[in-house]
Amino acid sequence: MHEKNEILVVGGAGYIGSHMADFLHRQGYAVVVLDDLSTGYRKAVLSAEFVEGDLADRDLLKKLFKQHKFTAVMHFAAFTQVGESVQHPAKYYHNNVCNTLNLLDEMLRANVKNFIFSSSAAIYGNPEYSPIDIEHPKNPINPYGKTKWMVEQILRDYDHAYGLKSICLRYFNAAGVDPECRIGEYHNPETHLIPLVLQAASGRKNEIKLFGNDYDTKDGTCIRDYIHVVDLCNAHLLALENLLKNAASKAYNLGNGNGFSVQEVVDTAQKITGKSIKVINVPRRAGDPAILVADATLAKQELNWQPKYVDLATIIKHAWQGECVMAQKGVKHE
Ligand code: UFG
Repeated sequence: MHEKNEILVVGGAGYIGSHMADFLHRQGYAVVVLDDLSTGYRKAVLSAEFVEGDLADRDLLKKLFKQHKFTAVMHFAAFTQVGESVQHPAKYYHNNVCNTLNLLDEMLRANVKNFIFSSSAAIYGNPEYSPIDIEHPKNPINPYGKTKWMVEQILRDYDHAYGLKSICLRYFNAAGVDPECRIGEYHNPETHLIPLVLQAASGRKNEIKLFGNDYDTKDGTCIRDYIHVVDLCNAHLLALENLLKNAASKAYNLGNGNGFSVQEVVDTAQKITGKSIKVINVPRRAGDPAILVADATLAKQELNWQPKYVDLATIIKHAWQGECVMAQKGVKHE
């Protein structure tokens, strides 16, 4: 048990952060969630001390680091919509980069030197080969991906100069929800494939738009590597434990190494839900690579990470349980 370890989870009211805060609590950690609720939900914070505020507020950060003795910080509080990042890059650079710098600087002031960072497959840009390993060239093609890569580079320099240890976890397509269905996936607006497909199945949406069926893939639709949010949480826990054992700073890919096409997601969702899902074929969405699949060998070897919910059907089954709760509550989709 780690009763004495206090962990700050920034963005712990969002989709992945709220799962993580709960996961840490169940492992015996004391958790403080800092979230400005701009995209997160107070209700998603189940068992942590909650502080509302954002990383631009240096006084709040100073106070927080004075009040608590954090062993480590996990940072999930980024804006994540690729399309929006192209339209409003300032929003992304300010929050995802400048605010992260505020956090790192206040960590250093408080002598907190363990940091887990939510990075993304978006740092690689268009894949030059597949599956993508961590050495793959980093050529992000949108401001969102650039912000993630900038922070990774800042973290290298902060380690070298100030001894701040970090693990960057590059997620592929996070999906699924807590199997006990206590926490869900809520984005507003929702842009992710699996929740949208399931909203079309539950009737909260009329149909799903399929962005492009003329890609050079087996069925013409894009292939992605869907990774269960609980498996992501487990990787964060292992990364944290490694850092606490003085591991060196490092980056890891987190994915299953299995690619599923958009069409396969729709077909599997129809099977799991027993509902017919109306699909409208529309042109490609700008900036979508045909195939994004992770080589996560390093996370398996060095963190001893073993994803548990590797098949698409299980991921969709859990997400469907969450969607049914939302549909029963009559939550409206924007
Ligand atoms: N898609 C549709 N219709 C939809 C939504 C998505 O056909 O309504 C397709 C997309 O074109 C893509 C696939 O489903 O081929 C998955 O799309 P998502 O939006 O669910 O996920 P992305 O792969 O675009 O994005 C994910 C993360 C981003 C991250 C990116 C890394 O959500 O935060 O991976 O490349 F930047």
